Amino acid sequence: MCGIFAYYGPKTNAGKILVQGLKSLEYRGYDSWGIACKNDSDIAIYKRTGKIGDITSLPKEICGQTTIAIGHSRWATHGGVTRENAHPHSTEDNEVVLIHNGIFENYLEVKKQLIKREHKFKSETDTEVIAHLIQENLDKEGLEESVRKAILKIEGRYAIVVICKKENKIIAARRGSPLIVGVGKNKEFYIASDIPAFLKYTNKVMYLDNNQMVVLSDAKAKFYELTNKKEIKKRIVEITWNPESAEKGEYSHFMIKEIMEQKETLYRVLNQDDKIIKRAAGMINKAVGTYFIGCGTAGKVCLTGEYIFSEIAHKHINSTFGSEFPAHHHFITNKTLIVGVSQSGETADTLEAIEIAKEKKAKVLSIVNVETSSMAQMSNMVVPTKCGPEKAVASTKVTTAQLGVITLLAYACAGRLNDGKTLLLETAGKINDMLNPRYEEHISKLAQKLQNFESMYIIGRGSNYPMALESAIKLQEVSYIHAEGFAGGELKHGPIALIQKGTPCIVLCANDENKKAILSNAMEVKARGGYIIGVSPINEDVFDYWIRVPDVSTASPIVNIIPVQILAYKLALLRKNNPDMPRNLAKSVTVK
Ligand code: AGP
Ligand code: GLU
Repeated sequence: MCGIFAYYGPKTNAGKILVQGLKSLEYRGYDSWGIACKNDSDIAIYKRTGKIGDITSLPKEICGQTTIAIGHSRWATHGGVTRENAHPHSTEDNEVVLIHNGIFENYLEVKKQLIKREHKFKSETDTEVIAHLIQENLDKEGLEESVRKAILKIEGRYAIVVICKKENKIIAARRGSPLIVGVGKNKEFYIASDIPAFLKYTNKVMYLDNNQMVVLSDAKAKFYELTNKKEIKKRIVEITWNPESAEKGEYSHFMIKEIMEQKETLYRVLNQDDKIIKRAAGMINKAVGTYFIGCGTAGKVCLTGEYIFSEIAHKHINSTFGSEFPAHHHFITNKTLIVGVSQSGETADTLEAIEIAKEKKAKVLSIVNVETSSMAQMSNMVVPTKCGPEKAVASTKVTTAQLGVITLLAYACAGRLNDGKTLLLETAGKINDMLNPRYEEHISKLAQKLQNFESMYIIGRGSNYPMALESAIKLQEVSYIHAEGFAGGELKHGPIALIQKGTPCIVLCANDENKKAILSNAMEVKARGGYIIGVSPINEDVFDYWIRVPDVSTASPIVNIIPVQILAYKLALLRKNNPDMPRNLAKSVTVK
């Protein structure tokens, strides 16, 4: 989590460039923000709690003439959301100033030793300890070597960017958390956690890999291995994202823009080369044991994958959350295939699961949206979801694209890729028809009815059971209503006790072999006073409110989740929540 953005180059308004860039990274963390601008002999630091998007005019510390600046948007892990704990952090005299993404796991131990050596601390963060560690060697060894030595003492995943008063340089290093170097015109460089920060200025990037550092000085970027200082030559890669795709355009929020983009994202999944899908399916068919691994929404997509593969390819797939995977490592061999599913490709728990599997020589296939991410780089093969940037914290268009990829893979494993393509083509067309203003209005009316409820439930069976779980995530994260998803058949084993008169229950129903059973479960809820919202191709008697979805057989999870995404968005607006930046969350969870 946390957005990092730094500028080095000839432009004198570096502070302003940073403020704009940080706004596009705010989805990574929005507890507080801060910027440090270097001039000839001093470093000015400005930090505040709250969202950077809330500032109306630039503070004077940021407006000065400066060609070296670093900025940060925080998702707090160590220390409360206060101005003192906001980044950048510095030594007492601002000699060393840095920003940090990740967790310095052994910071307390190191901090105790530093306190014994008379270092004084201003914040509760792990980050500030790194600044002091660097300072200890600065006079003797210079910035580069002091940074290198300090970070070799850090345990955990991190990305840091450091400046100091005495040298006109920026030094950045990473292990686990993302950092990308943008190469601009006229010998200018950008360092950011994600590409949108600098996409307005350049689409040329160089990737900093794990355990490497980059030094920006004398109008050059030089890359080194952290352990032995060996210099590394980097290739410049051109990114194909256009800057507009990272903007809201005519929409009031990214969330609704991204929901509406589902009119075309399935087509993009379909438009990729068949060879990629066939090769990936070949890896699944060859493997002895396949694990789908993801977190949050991606984890629910993985579980849906189990059902889709069972039905279409008659194949057993295991799925688990990234954070739970370590308990399964005993089964992993060099014949196992790990399929990492992730929008960002930077989720720490999923990356760690992949690292564990790689130690056992398992093969890795990843289904990612950010094709240049750490996960993509760690994988033997990548199937991209091709959605362009997804910026709202709540995943929408990438979720359905991931389901699309998994459906194609299942058909390809069964030797019926063309049937899968025909089904998805038909589904994409029907989604296009479904997402019209009348449809949105119908769901808005439902949101008005539900806005004051404290709890709601969602049920589904078969591949719509994981979608019930995913529906709950969508509703929780942006509406803050207590929402829970269940397998329809499980209700009577306990949760049905929660149903009272009027309790809303969303029923995800497909026109498949589970239909009769899920409608019986809906009846059981209705008999206890529940208010039944049917998401279904047909309006059934048991429904109190019906949301029509197209009848697309095995692709039903793809269409059934879309109205719930819209409902969550509408509820967020009615309840005056910011759907793009829900409380306590961040888009990329790069800490364990
Ligand atoms: C989705 O709405 C959530 N914000 C979250 O669960 C997310 O899916 C999860 O953190 C995984 O992210 P990833 O796809 O980037 O790995
Ligand atoms: N550990 C640092 C802090 O709490 C960075 C947090 C993060 O990367 O999310 O400030």
